[in-house]
Amino acid sequence: MNIRQATVADLPGMQSANLTNLPENYILRYYLYHALTWPQASFVATDASGRKIVGYVLAKMEEEPTDGVPHGHVTSLAVMRTYRRMGIAAKLMALALRGLAESYGAKYVSLHVRKSNRAALHLYRDTLTFEVMEIEKGYYGDGEDAKDLSSLEDIDARVEEEDDAYLIEAIENLKLSEDGRVI
Ligand SMILES: CC(C)(COP(=O)(O)OP(=O)(O)OC[C@H]1O[C@@H](n2cnc3c(N)ncnc32)[C@H](O)[C@@H]1OP(=O)(O)O)[C@@H](O)C(=O)NCCC(=O)NCCS
Repeated sequence: MNIRQATVADLPGMQSANLTNLPENYILRYYLYHALTWPQASFVATDASGRKIVGYVLAKMEEEPTDGVPHGHVTSLAVMRTYRRMGIAAKLMALALRGLAESYGAKYVSLHVRKSNRAALHLYRDTLTFEVMEIEKGYYGDGEDAKDLSSLEDIDARVEEEDDAYLIEAIENLKLSEDGRVI
C-alpha cells in the first residue's frame, strides 16, 4: 500500500474508483481542475504495485466562501470495498486536511454526507471530530438529505500549536520510507 499526493496521471483511476463506489460522479475535467488548482489537497492510495488506485480523496478550497473565512471542501472520498476498514480513508483525510491548511490557508474544512452513510459519518464525526452544522433537505439527486459537516477547530492553529501531533496520531500506523512508500 502506498499513499501519496494525487498526480494528473492518477485522475482516470480516481474517476474509476469514484464511479465504482459513489453515485455522485464528475467529468474528468473537474478532477483536472482540482489537481491543477490545488495540487496539494488531493491524495491517492494505491495497491502494492503503485498503479491501481484503491482509494482517493479529492479536495479543494471553497472559491467564494459565503462566510468570508478561507476554508476547504472535500469534494469526494472513497476506498475500494476490499481495502476498507484498514484506516485508509482516515489517512487520506488527515493528509488532505493538512494540505488545505498548510498550502492554502484553510481555517476549516466542510463536506456533505448522506444522512444514511453510517461508515462515512463515523469517520468524519467520531474519528476526525467534524461537527454536523446543518441538514440540507433533498440535497442529493435522488432526494436524500445531506448532513453538512465542518471541522470546527482552526486547522492552521492545530498544525502550529500541536506541531503535527494530531496528524501523527491520525496516521499512527502509517510508516513511510524515504520515497513515500508505506513500509
Ligand atoms: C466511508 C469510507 C470512505 C471509509 O473508508 P475506510 O478506509 O474503510 O475508513 P477507515 O478504515 O479509515 O475508518 C475510519 C473510521 O470509520 C469507521 N468505519 C469504517 N467503516 C465503517 C462502517 N461500515 N460502519 C461503521 N464504522 C465504520 C472505522 O471503524 C474507523 O473508526 P475508528 O477511527 O473509530 O477506528 C468507505 O466506506 C467508502 O469508500 N464508502 C463508499 C464511498 C463513500 O461513502 N464515501 C464517502 C462519501 S461522503
